[in-house]
Amino acid sequence: MAVGIGYGKSILFGEHFVVYGIPAIGIGLMKKAEVEVIKSPNMSIESKDIRDKNVFLQAFEEIKKGMGVKDNFRVKINAGIPLSAGMGSSAAICVGFARALANEYKTRFKSEQIAAFAYQGEKVFHGNPSGIDNTLAAFGGTILFQKRPFWLGGDIIRHLKVKKPFWIVIGNTGKRMGSTKELVAGVKSLKQKNEEIFAYLFVLERKLIERAIKALERGDLEELGQLMNMNHGLLSALGVSTLDNAKIVYMARKAGALGAKLTGAGGGGCCIALAKDEKHAKAVADAIKREGFDAFCSKVGE
Ligand code: PMV
Repeated sequence: MAVGIGYGKSILFGEHFVVYGIPAIGIGLMKKAEVEVIKSPNMSIESKDIRDKNVFLQAFEEIKKGMGVKDNFRVKINAGIPLSAGMGSSAAICVGFARALANEYKTRFKSEQIAAFAYQGEKVFHGNPSGIDNTLAAFGGTILFQKRPFWLGGDIIRHLKVKKPFWIVIGNTGKRMGSTKELVAGVKSLKQKNEEIFAYLFVLERKLIERAIKALERGDLEELGQLMNMNHGLLSALGVSTLDNAKIVYMARKAGALGAKLTGAGGGGCCIALAKDEKHAKAVADAIKREGFDAFCSKVGE
């Protein structure tokens, strides 16, 4: 028997754009998925959180293949993260499973390797994901991620310096207008009809990310928040913000959040807001809850 964990994640900047090779900034959350593996004659899943066990079983087979594991396991999953909400639950579970297998066979892998094993599982869920979710789920912390082809040296993964820890609030719409795969496909078809406009959007997103890295390094939360607001505008331009996303974003801003945007694939799912401090984060979460949505706070940068 062995256990492994994977971090929940939130994307601070660059979701969707990351699919097209633009860097993105993500954070590991305090919420984690915990996966336990117990050798057994067949593969099976025990979890109160997961409805579609078959897709997870398929993903686990891919991860086992990548790691060269032939044994079967009873897999106990405590998701610890809301599912299908843009918080990387599938990636966290895939990372947890890969780590549990590594622990079972007492093999040490670097986080990059665990992320790569988990990516094989993520493909079962999302088709051709950028790789940001499994990377964040394996590393935690604040990470710059850029998808890059193997022949150019592979993905860029860099821990970012965060001068001052900060508090964020995640608000969950509790709804999702399609899977990540469908939302990514929707953006692709919009892009195909508007290549010239998308070229400008990509330049703007790159600029936002450059400024955000510097704001994190300086501990300039005011600027970080403004950049988040602008990023939300760009995501609206991609067509992935729903009325519920907008409600949470505007409730958070009304409660004094320094910035707020949707996070992850959108179409509902979750939003992220930047608070001034811990007490303010609780007030922002309460404001979101008063609108009938779930919300929780998390500290970033430690
Ligand atoms: O599946 P989510 O909601 O965590 O979003 C993943 C981030 C996207 O940029 C939309 C897709 C990707 O593969 O990077």
